[in-house]
Order: sequence, then C-alpha cells, then structure tokens
Amino acid sequence: MSSSGDFDLTVRNGRISTASDTFHADIGVRGGVIAAVGRGLPPGRQDIDAAGHWVLPGGIDSHCHVEQLSGMGVMCADDFYSATVSAAFGGTTTIIPFAAQHRGNALPEVVADYHRRAAEKAVIDYGFHLILSDPTEHALQHDLPALIREGITSFKVYMTYERLKIDDYQLLDVLEVADREGALVMVHAENNDMIRWIARKLVDRGMTAPKYHAVAHTPLAESEATNRAVALARLMDVPILIVHVAGLEAVRVVHASQALGLPILAESCPQYLFLRAEDLDLPGLEGAKYCCSPPPRDAASQEAVWAGLVDGTLQMYSSDHAPYRFDESGKLPKGQDTTFKDMANGVPGLELRMPLLFSEGVLKGRMSIERFVAVTSANHARTYGLYPRKGTIAVGADADFAIWNPDREVHVSSAMLHDQVGYTPYEGRTVRGWPETVVSRGRIAVRDGKLHVQRGSGQFLKRGTPEPVLRQRLKGESNSILRQFLGKATEEKA
Ligand code: URP
Ligand code: ZN
Ligand code: ZN
Repeated sequence: MSSSGDFDLTVRNGRISTASDTFHADIGVRGGVIAAVGRGLPPGRQDIDAAGHWVLPGGIDSHCHVEQLSGMGVMCADDFYSATVSAAFGGTTTIIPFAAQHRGNALPEVVADYHRRAAEKAVIDYGFHLILSDPTEHALQHDLPALIREGITSFKVYMTYERLKIDDYQLLDVLEVADREGALVMVHAENNDMIRWIARKLVDRGMTAPKYHAVAHTPLAESEATNRAVALARLMDVPILIVHVAGLEAVRVVHASQALGLPILAESCPQYLFLRAEDLDLPGLEGAKYCCSPPPRDAASQEAVWAGLVDGTLQMYSSDHAPYRFDESGKLPKGQDTTFKDMANGVPGLELRMPLLFSEGVLKGRMSIERFVAVTSANHARTYGLYPRKGTIAVGADADFAIWNPDREVHVSSAMLHDQVGYTPYEGRTVRGWPETVVSRGRIAVRDGKLHVQRGSGQFLKRGTPEPVLRQRLKGESNSILRQFLGKATEEKA
C-alpha cells in the first residue's frame, strides 16, 4: 500500500470487496490506475466519499453480442455505443463481445471491421472473442494463430444453428489449434439434429407459438452436446468453456467432468436464474421476448444454476446480451406470422446482469459478496487473460470499479435502461442495490444518473492467454490417447 498523494481521484471510506477479501479503505487513483489502497489517503483532485457504500471491481461481461449479425442474419439492436453505455450504467467496465465470422468471411477482415466500429463508439474498454464458423485450413493454420498473437485469445464455436455450426471433426481441429497456440475454445453446446427434428414435428402439427421454442430446445439436446464437447476436449486433452449453461443435466455433466479432474470451465447467465420456460407461454407472440438458446428452463434447473455458481462448478456469470427489438427488425421477422423457428434468439441483459445478482444473490444471502465479485468480474479476467489489470481492486490494476448503494431500490423498466432494445424480460421487478457511480480507467463514467465519458474513449484490450493454472491442470491429465500414441504437441514443447 502506498499513499504518496497527488491523486486524480480519491474514493474514501468505502467498503471494498474483491474476490477474496472485504475491508474498509480509501482508493487513490493516478493516471487511470489504482495508485494506493489504504486508510486516510489525501484528497484527490476529484474526491468521492463512499461511506455506507460498497466499492466493487467493475464488472466484466465476457459474453455479449454487440453490433453483430446473428446466425439467422439479423442485426443486433445495440451498437458499440449503446451497448457500452448500457453496460456502464449497470456497473460493468469491460465487455468482451464477439467478432463473428460467417461462412465465407475471411477472419482478418471480420476482426478489422469490428475493431473499426468499436474504436469509434465504445465508452468502456473491450476485447473480442471470435465466432468461428468456417474453420478452413487457412483460417486454422494462419489466421487464428495471427489473431491470437493480436490478443484475441478465445473463440466460440457452435454445435447448433445451421449457418454457424461446426461438426465434431472440425471441433477437434479447432481444439488442436487452441491447444497449440494457447487459446480457449468456448462451446455453444446443443444437439442440432435433436432440435431440428423436434421443431419440424411441432411445426407440422401447427405448434408454432414462442413456447414451443423451449420444447424444441430440449434439455437433453443441451446435456448431450455438453457431454460430447467434454469428450472431444478430453480426447484432445485441452480445456474448454461451456457457455450459457441452462439445464440441470448440463450442470451435472460439467460437475462430473470437473470431478474427474478435467479442465472444463462453464458460464451461466441471468436468464437461467431469473426466467423460466413458462415465461415463453404468453398470449400472442409476447413470449418471443423471453426466447434465447438454450431457453430458460424449470425451477429445478434454476436451483442447479444457482448452486453451480455458488459452489464453483460455474465460474462465470455473463449476460449473453443478444439484443433484438420486438418488431420485424428482430424478434418478429414475419410479423404476426412469425413462428418460434423464425424468432431471433437472445435476450438483453448487459445493464441488469449485476444488479439482479447483487439483489437476489448477495442481499438475499445466497452468495457472498466475494463470490459475486468472482463470478461477475475476477474469474472473467483470469479466464480471458486480463488479470490482474482487470477484475480486482489492487495497486497497479486499472481503476475500474463501481460504487454501489446497497440500500437503493430500483423498479426495473425498459424506459430506465440505456440499450436500444425497447423491452426487458425483467420489466416490473424491484431490485435492491445499484451501482450509482462507475469508474472506468480512473474516469468517472457514470454519476448521478449521467454519462461522463465520450464516445470512442474505450480502449481495445489485447488479452493474454488463459491462466497458467489451466495449462498446468492440462499437463497433469494422464489419460490422453493423443499423448500416448501421437506425441502431442504441448508435451513436445514442454
Ligand atoms: O439465444 C441466444 N443465446 N442468442 C445469442 C447467440 C448465442 O448463441 O449465444
Ligand atoms: Zn451461444
Ligand atoms: Zn451468446
């Protein structure tokens, strides 16, 4: 701890929590970085008294879709300005959305395009994952390694969605490259053929309402694909991350593989804690507002996701913000004739992700504040190569934090949010606790309900490779066929 003074900003008397500790102290910020954490720091040029408030690391939302074309060709409602403003108002100071490759697109051009758009508009810091839908030999051997060196060290692959999915053979190729180059593969695990087959039967019978989306996307499709993804990762002896885990059985598959010592990471999202399949069963097409993939499930699955987030089976809690308006530009491409198969998949959640969990998890005693910091911030930084620059409150870290008023009650409505979606699936709920002041790299980004940072002032984060502990666990794994018979590349390097 240092207290040499001359701070740009001092935040005094706050109750600070990181993923490991809670203590009362002041924070001194200089040059965008935390320069001191201690008691009795001198006032800064800007000075905030945080007495009675909780000072938490800024959230990191490592799963959100921004200014992106979906697999069905639908453009998100949020661009890099509205998405980052919305994130900031909800206490998030870093996002990692996707640079999405569609088949036939060259990866370097895809990434350059996202860089251009984000640099012009983002108000907080951001990185990118890739969405990889066309793993050609050139992409695998040339483009991916180059992009990993440029700090895009994770990529998402889909086991479903006709226009995005890769097959198991391709996934093995992708895992091999990720392993060799030190990147992390994120898997959308749902069995495409099960979903397609059920969906066809439903439509043939005239069952086209939004609620049938949750029938087609059966929990079995999720757990089967999760199990298969784990088996493929196990064959290759590489870590993977299962994104947006929704169902009880999928949580169990993840848990069982971790119990075997496998480096399987997993994430879940607000929609799997706070929504249910029955929310899709509303008059007319209203249920489309709750449609995402995998869909929200039942009470038992909600409980399993809560337990997984608390006990460490699920390390991260992201929004999977996939913003589509409730009109022909998004959810209802065929107007009143839209079937569950046509609806854009995804729900908004960037701004409410943290307040919902703070209110229902921390303040209702289901989750410690340290675990809240871990699943909303620190674990994202560790997993995606941003720690300790991001994800903690410590000397030398970026001054990214939010000052929460734990007593403030907020009535949620889409009108108070800063995204461009026009509805929220959480309309009408009341949450307690709100991030009233949000600091991004030492700049007061949000205060008194107003934005204070400029369009284009967010910075691209060149990320490192996933935490070394992941790689060590990988080397400790001993049952790899590849290691025994094919002389696996990682061992040769070691
Ligand atoms: O329904 C969802 N989750 N839409 C966004 C795309 C994805 O699969 O994450
Ligand atoms: Zn997905
Ligand atoms: Zn997503």
